[in-house]
Amino acid sequence: MQTTEITEDMIFECFAAASQHADMDRTAESFVDVEEYENQIMYPEFARWAEKAGYPELAKLFRRVAGEEKLHAVWLRKLYADMGVPSRGEDTQRAIDALNTIQANCDSLIALNPEGVVEKALNVALRVEEREALGIYPKFRDQALAEGNTEAAEVYQKVVDSEAQHAEWFKAAIAAFPNDYYAAAA
Ligand SMILES: [Fe+2]
Ligand SMILES: [Fe+2]
Repeated sequence: MQTTEITEDMIFECFAAASQHADMDRTAESFVDVEEYENQIMYPEFARWAEKAGYPELAKLFRRVAGEEKLHAVWLRKLYADMGVPSRGEDTQRAIDALNTIQANCDSLIALNPEGVVEKALNVALRVEEREALGIYPKFRDQALAEGNTEAAEVYQKVVDSEAQHAEWFKAAIAAFPNDYYAAAA
């Protein structure tokens, strides 16, 4: 069967690109959507790959992080009560479309090289988490502080702390992969 190599960049592009607007509210709205698709699409899909590749402990980690991304969406949406519920925003829709195009390939690649695909997922997860922990949410927090909105700054700081924790978990998983996960998979 013909398969196209899936690169980390392809996976990252599928899942990681939120819209950056000049208007901070629209950027914030975009990130509510990002948290939603991390919760509903990206991490469940990574968990599915890990499960399929024989790494149930990693699947558990991806699902745990997925659950916390939902919390981030809830916290952020509370800040913007007038935002309503973007049940399927642009970013989520784009992620779904991208996922559909790579999903069949992923399944055949997992059959050929399960470790390679899972390792890429872990690396993408780390990139996504570091981008949020070190770049995006600290910037939102600092902007909120500059505007004197300490309530918003506290929420953003909570998200920063949580994303930093996710990055640490993925860093540890990458360092341990694949050997420490064989026992769990056996
Ligand atoms: Fe998050
Ligand atoms: Fe996260």
